[in-house]
Amino acid sequence: MAKILVATEKPFSKVAVDGIRKVTEEAGMELALLEKYTEKAELLQAVADADALIVRSDKVDAEVIAAAPNLKIVVRAGAGYDNLDLEACTRAGVVAMNTPGQNANSVAELVFGLLVMAVRNFYDGTSGTELLGKRLGILAFGNVGRNVARIAKGFGMEVMAYDAFCPAEAIEKAGVKAASCQDELFEQCDVVSLHIPATAETRNSINAALVGKMHKGGILVNTARKEVIDEASLLQLMQERTDLKYIADIKPDMHDEYAKALAGRYFATPKKMGAQTAEANVNAGIAAAHQIVGYLKDGITKFQLNK
Ligand code: 3PG
Repeated sequence: MAKILVATEKPFSKVAVDGIRKVTEEAGMELALLEKYTEKAELLQAVADADALIVRSDKVDAEVIAAAPNLKIVVRAGAGYDNLDLEACTRAGVVAMNTPGQNANSVAELVFGLLVMAVRNFYDGTSGTELLGKRLGILAFGNVGRNVARIAKGFGMEVMAYDAFCPAEAIEKAGVKAASCQDELFEQCDVVSLHIPATAETRNSINAALVGKMHKGGILVNTARKEVIDEASLLQLMQERTDLKYIADIKPDMHDEYAKALAGRYFATPKKMGAQTAEANVNAGIAAAHQIVGYLKDGITKFQLNK
């Protein structure tokens, strides 16, 4: 009987686990759970007899792959797959997938949760500002970016986007103004929301030179990855530009310095919360289970990342 391991340092909701179990058992497979683990050794031990693996942001590196001799497929229940070593998967003949779009609305809603808090001065009792009529720039127009655009329109914001891999026509077709480049997005917008993946090209790409182009009172929202920020340079800029705010769904490595130097203008969730809703957990977790069953039973490779 094939064994599917769900290994989540940040667990899925119970309803999501029940759904994953149902899909697994109906396919005649066995489900094993490793939740809230704190040591990599626990993961290495748990994958030893797994045929398939479902993870969230859990790191699946060459050591994990090597510890799983029966492993045929790993699915990142979510969008960003910078936590998977695709080359190690390929070398070991393991198919790697993600579940694009399944948690996009959840992340997009959090953007506005953070944003309303920031424009109301973190509820410190002082008078804030509204989002109505402000211009929001979306950097990368994928599933999350598109959901952010939809919600922004509900707030009455003007929406602009730039995506290095999505043509301007496709952005305009979605009813969003296309910026011609990343610089223009920062120059033109009151708020910029990041939705780029962490890749070799994007790491440290959001720096003082870019963020410094924002108007007075600009707000940078990061629900993407901490790695895309050049933390030292952003901190230096924000010490000079005391009008700027930074809100993030993942603590920067320099969190303590940020919290100390930027009091009242900076907030980071203690743990990444973007996809931490019952709905997103169900959508992504169950999609991952279906993708595993589809691959193990019928060889379906839709959403394979390491082709
Ligand atoms: C994603 O890439 O799907 C999101 O960042 C969610 O990550 P999480 O599963 O760790 O919450």
